[in-house]
Amino acid sequence: MRAAVLREPLDLIVEERPAPQPGPGEVLVRVTAVGVCGSDTHYYDHGRIGHFVVEAPLVLGHEAAGVIEAVGAGVTDRHVGQRVSIEPGVPDLTCPECLAGRYNLCHRMRFFATPPVDGAFAELVTVHAAFAHPVPDEVSDDAAALLEPLSVAVWACEKARVRPGDRVLVTGAGPIGLLALQTARAYGATDVTVLDINPDRLEVARACGATRTALDEHQPAPTVLLECSGSTAAVMSGLRALGRAGRAVLIGMGADELLIPVAELQMREIVLTGVFRYANTWPTAIHLAASGRVDLDALVTAHYGLRDTHLALTAAREVPGSIKVIVQPHK
Ligand SMILES: NC(=O)c1ccc[n+]([C@@H]2O[C@H](COP(=O)([O-])OP(=O)(O)OC[C@H]3O[C@@H](n4cnc5c(N)ncnc54)[C@H](O)[C@@H]3O)[C@@H](O)[C@H]2O)c1
Ligand SMILES: [Zn+2]
Repeated sequence: MRAAVLREPLDLIVEERPAPQPGPGEVLVRVTAVGVCGSDTHYYDHGRIGHFVVEAPLVLGHEAAGVIEAVGAGVTDRHVGQRVSIEPGVPDLTCPECLAGRYNLCHRMRFFATPPVDGAFAELVTVHAAFAHPVPDEVSDDAAALLEPLSVAVWACEKARVRPGDRVLVTGAGPIGLLALQTARAYGATDVTVLDINPDRLEVARACGATRTALDEHQPAPTVLLECSGSTAAVMSGLRALGRAGRAVLIGMGADELLIPVAELQMREIVLTGVFRYANTWPTAIHLAASGRVDLDALVTAHYGLRDTHLALTAAREVPGSIKVIVQPHK
């Protein structure tokens, strides 16, 4: 099978590799679509993210969908030919965090495209059967891949306990912010304000259902902040804009540390949390996509074949108007 392999920063080649075999409890998936995430681009540019360093050749890509090609020993609830969305982080399933249901916090998580685990810019991948989620026909291959970033948004809305009547402020209208917007609407938020410094993205946000793209001081303050930019300025202004007893979820990754406005958090009893990926979000994400309440295909701005993976990885910054780019490894 062919795979796009990152050897050094900015050095990606397509090479032939032996087809992987599904181990016990695993399925083999023929990959149909893989979304490009900012983290893939960061590994491509710099060869590292924080303390995760690419020390050996690595296959990138973790937003993946495909068709089951074979099942390993003991797999009874998946079958060949099933279309699946891959949940790319497989935890050990036995540690205290996993047993508590917080498997996204597992210390022994093996996550696609995070050194040393290969990702999905490849024709075939194997994954634990329970992490290959069957999708209905209404969910396209692209959408099935994008259930991964949708899961980030679902988890953030769960953490923020978004419910009918909420007024949500989303800062940052990249793929994550646009999905946070759509998910918050689906969860019943009546008013979703989206802020970005890029006017093109605000236009997309309006098309995706944003009620406003600027704060309006004549409106009641937001009850929820979903911070999806990673910008310190956006965190600070977002917290300041929140109403009393507001809930703030920091999704965007930017500065490792910033000053907390303690007095404001105390006097207004703001609840502040971070989020790390997601746990048990695929069932909800599948329903949101299949019912049309979240439109994932609307975010796709380009498709690339495997040999053009390097172009896909830089499209977000090179191609104006890019939002979500898809690699089709079989092309
Ligand atoms: N916590 C998690 O588990 C998790 C998972 C996935 C992604 N992320 C993070 O979520 C963030 C968003 O991801 P993305 O793929 O949408 O990224 P993106 O870079 O496409 O989008 C970020 C957006 O924020 C905007 N922005 C920058 N400064 C701003 C400011 N001051 N105010 C308002 N908007 C501003 C940018 O113009 C851009 O449109 C990233 O930081 C990413 O690392 C976190
Ligand atoms: Zn665990």
